[in-house]
Formats: sequence, structure tokens, C-alpha cells
Amino acid sequence: MLHGLLCLLAVIGFLIGQGTAGEKYLIKKDAFGVTSDDKAVDLYTLSNGSGTEVRVTNYGGIIVSLIVPDRNGKLADIVLGYDDLKGYFNNKAYFGALIGRYGNRIAGGKFKLDGKEYTLAKNNGPNSLHGGLKGFNQVVWEANGAQTSRGATLTLRYISKDGEEGYPGTLTVEVTYTLTAANELLLEYTARTDRATPVNLTQHTYFNLQGEGNGDILGHEVMISADRFTPVDKDLIPTGKLHPVKGSPFDFISPTTIGSRINGNYDQLSLGRGYDHNLVLNRSGNELELAARVHEPKSGRILEIYTTEPAVQFYTGNFLDGTIIGKNNHAYQQHAGFCLETQHYPDSPNHPSFPSTILRPGDVFHSRTTFKFLADGKGN
Ligand code: GLA
Repeated sequence: MLHGLLCLLAVIGFLIGQGTAGEKYLIKKDAFGVTSDDKAVDLYTLSNGSGTEVRVTNYGGIIVSLIVPDRNGKLADIVLGYDDLKGYFNNKAYFGALIGRYGNRIAGGKFKLDGKEYTLAKNNGPNSLHGGLKGFNQVVWEANGAQTSRGATLTLRYISKDGEEGYPGTLTVEVTYTLTAANELLLEYTARTDRATPVNLTQHTYFNLQGEGNGDILGHEVMISADRFTPVDKDLIPTGKLHPVKGSPFDFISPTTIGSRINGNYDQLSLGRGYDHNLVLNRSGNELELAARVHEPKSGRILEIYTTEPAVQFYTGNFLDGTIIGKNNHAYQQHAGFCLETQHYPDSPNHPSFPSTILRPGDVFHSRTTFKFLADGKGN
């Protein structure tokens, strides 16, 4: 009897979910091209019926475009990137990409785990950055699109082999992107391993809330809920200390424009050529919490970032120098975009005092981040 009732409720729930989803949420799949090793790659368009639209390719899990309204409903693509797949083959800036197995730097491309030393591929001076020479941003993910009751969902899956880029264990990774009716892009990461390994997955989208290629981001007002940050050395490796942001250009507790202090006389800013630092988020639990809020005064667009991660890498596109020609023939100059990469601290495998990034067999890595798009003015 109870079983019958539960079945009936499940069927009704399924129909409601499908009904709502069918009307509002769309996911479309188009061919995007072929990789150098002859793998076909697709471009998935997720939309929610209100103009907001995200395009994601299963090459690197890259967010290729993200179209959202401004305060007057005017739509613009607010992420940096390339017009076609070929552009992403040499994506040195990691535009839009999923990053793994370890987002950010590992000092000297080395770490010790359970008494054994591992050597990683070095691709950033003496360090390993964003997974090595061929990180998750350059692999083809298996992809499945679906219309769910939460929105249009793209599920990406990749199996990273034991020893890939020097990392131990076969790691099975799943990332889902869901675009909801409330203009949120939900990111959910899970991973499982058969041997202990470091894991630090993140998303490397460069935002410009005025629209990609439309000037710099120095006028964006940023709030980051972080009382401390991880100061770095000349190779951008954390010293191991957690430094209070108070009284420094890293204090974004109250909304402050990116440009107001970026060129100040402060050693950490000189080392990063701007902001390229991990801010330690003020957290009260393990659920999604507001990490950052960015407001662009001209367009009125607002980006809120919620995460379950302990930190966020705030990077202000310091290495962009106009040599990369991106979408619509735009030459991306320094500070053409900013990234807020939710993650664990850099180089954690070499810092026992940092929150652990080690995933062990039998455990499940689970991490969530939400990008929520709003606009000032009416209703906000
Ligand atoms: C990260 C790093 C930066 C830079 C970019 C990619 O955000 O912290 O130093 O390497 O990726 O250009």
C-alpha cells in the first residue's frame, strides 16, 4: 500500500518536473569541430526561456559564452573566449575551462603522499599549474544533456588515468552545469579515485560584466567574504601564512572597485602584477555560502558566487597583454576580465596546515559552486 502510494507520488513528481522543464529549459547540441587527434567535439547551448544562455563545449568543459541581461534587459556575452574550437587548442589563459586534477600551483611540481614522492609535469616555471601540460581543460569529456526539473543540465564525465601528468590513481570525475529559471548556473563536481591523490577542481571563466571585449574590469565593484588571504612568493606559491586582509588592498569585505588599489605600492600586488591570490573565505558551515558579489555600475549587471569551497582565487587578468585575439576579433588587454576560481588553497599537498586536498579510495569528492546573475534597479 505504502509502496504503491510512493510510486504514484514519484510518477506525479516526474511528470511535473518534465512538464515544467519541457516548457522552459532547453538544451541543444551542435557539432563544434574535431580535435587534433580526431575526436568530435560538441557545443551545448543551455537556455532558460528568459534570454540567459550558456554555451559549453565538452572539449575542456569550457564555458564558451554566457549571455545575460543588463538592468534594461539588454543581452551581452560576459565571458572571454574564442569564436571557434581551434582557438581553445592553445588556450594559455585557460578561458572558461574546467581545471584539474589540481587547480592552481604545486610548488616544484612535487609532493609527498603517504611517504612517497610524486613528480608532476611542470608548466609554470618551476611549478605545476592547473593540472600540468595537458590538464582537464584540454581533454574531451563524455557529455550528456538533459532537461531536469531544476533546469537544463549538462553532465560531463572524464576518467583521468593513473599516472596522468604524474598524479597517482585513476580518477573518475563528473561535473554538471545546470542553468536554472532563476538565472543561476549551478556547478557540481564529484570525483572518485582508486588510489590516494590530490584533487582541486575549479572553473576558470573570465568575466567582464560590461560584455567581453568591452573595456577593462577595473571599474567593477567587488565584495569578497574573506578576512584572510594566502600571501605568495615570487613564483606565486603561498608562503604558508594566512595574512589578515584588514588594512591591505586585499580587503574586499565592503564592495570596492578592482582598480582603486590595484596599482598601489604593496609587495603582494607587485608579485602578482595585480590580484592573483587565494582569499580564504569566511565560512560558517559546509553548505553553499556567498563568497563574492561583483557589481558593474554601467550595465547594472551583478554576479554572485556561492560555494562550498574554502577559498577563491581572485585573478584580474594580469597576464593578458593584447596578444590574444578572442571572440569578435577582440584583442584582450591586461584586466580585460577577472576570475573568481572557487577552490582549496594553492600548493596544499605541500602544506599540512592547509585544509586537505587528498582524496582517498572509498571517499567521494563533492564540491558545489553557483554563479547567480542579477541586475540592479527594479526587483534587485
Ligand atoms: C590562474 C593563475 C594565474 C594565471 C592564470 C592563467 O588564475 O593563478 O597566475 O596563470 O591562471 O593565465
